[in-house]
Amino acid sequence: VRSKTLHRLSGSLIALFVVTHLANHLASLWGPEEHLRLMDALRPYYRHVLAETVLLAVIGIQLYSGIRLVLRKRKTATGFFEKLHVRTGLYLAFFFVIHLSAIMAGRHLLHLDTNLYFGAVGLNRFPLNLFFVPYYSLAILAFFGHLSAIHAQKMTTNLLGLPPGKQALAILALGFVTTFLILYGLTGYFRGLEIP
Ligand code: HEM
Ligand code: HEM
Repeated sequence: VRSKTLHRLSGSLIALFVVTHLANHLASLWGPEEHLRLMDALRPYYRHVLAETVLLAVIGIQLYSGIRLVLRKRKTATGFFEKLHVRTGLYLAFFFVIHLSAIMAGRHLLHLDTNLYFGAVGLNRFPLNLFFVPYYSLAILAFFGHLSAIHAQKMTTNLLGLPPGKQALAILALGFVTTFLILYGLTGYFRGLEIP
């Protein structure tokens, strides 16, 4: 199977999880209890042995096929969206490796509940936040940026009077808004979240 076909199939499954995961983080806008409650409700699905095995396997496939696409595209990528495509892919690869290692080490080695407080601690403590604010922000932006680049490449028709390039920029703008809202929620409206 070609790298691209593989990448497209596994990407769809990953995107389904990531959208749900980001919605979970957005729930913090209604307070920490809402975030914890939604995660409790979602965990039986994405942490089900079968579902989680599939998720981790397709992320492995995504990294492998993505790196192959980067190696193929790196030299020939021209223009804003093609460069964005390659760079967001590279950041996503870096982020998946670190993020999943941290989550799995927290859960299986430290035996912690990797809930809201585990995820948000780095955003709420100085000087950890100097690393974690850009680290998480770029991850959310890279996800939307990757989708924006795919849209710019595939879309051929106008939508609500907007040409494909402008639609792709709108997806990128939605990424910035989502990033801002998630950081606002996870930091207790920028006043600092109390970490038990
Ligand atoms: C959230 C995870 C990811 C999703 C949902 C995703 C999804 C996609 C999709 C649907 C395409 C379009 C494929 C096509 O042309 O039919 C694509 C292209 C691409 N992806 Fe990803 N991807 C992800 C992660 C990655 C990673 C980790 C890398 C790099 C290591 C990467 C590198 C690329 C590259 C370079 C292309 C451009 C291929 C081209 O223009 O021919 N992606 N991605
Ligand atoms: C502010 C940003 C983010 C924070 C604070 C965060 C935090 C977390 C936490 C706490 C978990 C553990 C969930 C659990 O124990 O049930 C988790 C899991 C995960 N996150 Fe994130 N995350 C963020 C963004 C992202 C992004 C942008 C992606 C992908 C592009 C991502 C991909 C994943 C994956 C694949 C898992 C593993 C799910 C599992 O198998 O349990 N995360 N994240």
